[in-house]
Amino acid sequence: MADNFNIIRALCRTALTNPSDALIHQVERLIKNLEKEGKKKEAKSLSALLASGKKDVHMSPSRIEKSFLHNRGESLTNNTVIPVDKETATPLAEVFFAEDLPTEMPVFDIKMEEVIISIINEWMKYDRLLEIDASPANSCLIYGVPGTGKTHLAKWISKEINIPIVLAKLDGLMSSFLGTTSRNIGNLFKFANRYNCVLLLDEFDAIAKLRNDPHEVGEVKRVVNTLLQNLDSRRGIGFTIGVTNHEGLLDPAIWRRFDVQIEIPRPTQKVMMELLKEFLKPIDLADSEMKFLTWCIEGASGADAKVLANWIKKSSILSDKTPMVDTMRKFALLNTGRVKDDKRNLFIGNDENLISTLIKDENYAFKQKDIASLFGMTQSSLSKLLSKQKEVENI
Ligand SMILES: Nc1ncnc2c1ncn2[C@@H]1O[C@H](COP(=O)(O)OP(=O)(O)O)[C@@H](O)[C@H]1O
Ligand SMILES: [Mg+2]
Repeated sequence: MADNFNIIRALCRTALTNPSDALIHQVERLIKNLEKEGKKKEAKSLSALLASGKKDVHMSPSRIEKSFLHNRGESLTNNTVIPVDKETATPLAEVFFAEDLPTEMPVFDIKMEEVIISIINEWMKYDRLLEIDASPANSCLIYGVPGTGKTHLAKWISKEINIPIVLAKLDGLMSSFLGTTSRNIGNLFKFANRYNCVLLLDEFDAIAKLRNDPHEVGEVKRVVNTLLQNLDSRRGIGFTIGVTNHEGLLDPAIWRRFDVQIEIPRPTQKVMMELLKEFLKPIDLADSEMKFLTWCIEGASGADAKVLANWIKKSSILSDKTPMVDTMRKFALLNTGRVKDDKRNLFIGNDENLISTLIKDENYAFKQKDIASLFGMTQSSLSKLLSKQKEVENI
């Protein structure tokens, strides 16, 4: 680690001779992580590099921009009265302040992380871009399958730009009383437009559900129109994030109201491994075990990775001597929605098939030694089993 850290520091020093906001952001993340791991000396040394790098560019632009950003609208406080649905008295939104928001960026592919940081930078420099007529983006739609970290991402963006978030779940605004849904939407936007906040319209697709009901045609039109007008009313006033699991259900006119649209993909193999590592903390598994867990839930979401990590944590206390394959067999049988059918069938069938599938998987490149330990057998009994299998195949 010490040797690698010297290389990392040299890399940072070189890169910081020409610092961009994205670079500064990544170095700040590295410092935070090192601090968390108790590596104070390393964190301090990078902080010093960062400070001298920033001096060279006369302070990071994002720091200067923050003052503009915070002069927009009245400030929300814990005492601010939140509008409610007149029929049920339920609040139309929930307000989250910086201290309630996640400090960790969701784990995504590096390209996706870069794109997200570029949006944050644009929002940080909103007023400067406006001054030169550069039409900065102030709204974005985040979409993708459930559990991929979309709501987490929206909250983290608010945390990064240091503005509280007004979170409204769209299905919470829907009322069975004619006209009340539109009135709720109007009141929600009036509230958000008055205060300095990021408006998060979560589970945006709820509006679309109404469309499936033939009795509701008139009401749907009215709701969609209200939403369109209100989205327009936020131009130049504040930032808006829409989140949806079913982007196909959204009205194209609503879709177009968002300056940028980001699709959050399911985790790749590498991202899944990182997610599992993160969620498994403080438990540290061998690389071969990490690879095996990733293989088992390939194609699942980040939320699924969290469930699996929790399962492994529990098993480490309740049945710590059990071979990993048996722990995962149970998981596969109890989580039919998280483990794909073909893999689950392998767990149900005999171990020989499972072993030979793992050995043949070029993507994961499991070593015989790793497989033996996953199955709790010695390497020689695994070799014997494999050669027996080969004999059978050759007959
Ligand atoms: N890529 C990711 N990085 C970090 N955490 C994730 C990721 N994907 C999912 N999660 C975690 O899974 C849970 C569900 O995420 P959430 O943001 O609510 O998903 P979505 O809004 O896409 O349905 C949260 O606890 C979240 O932190
Ligand atoms: Mg969500």
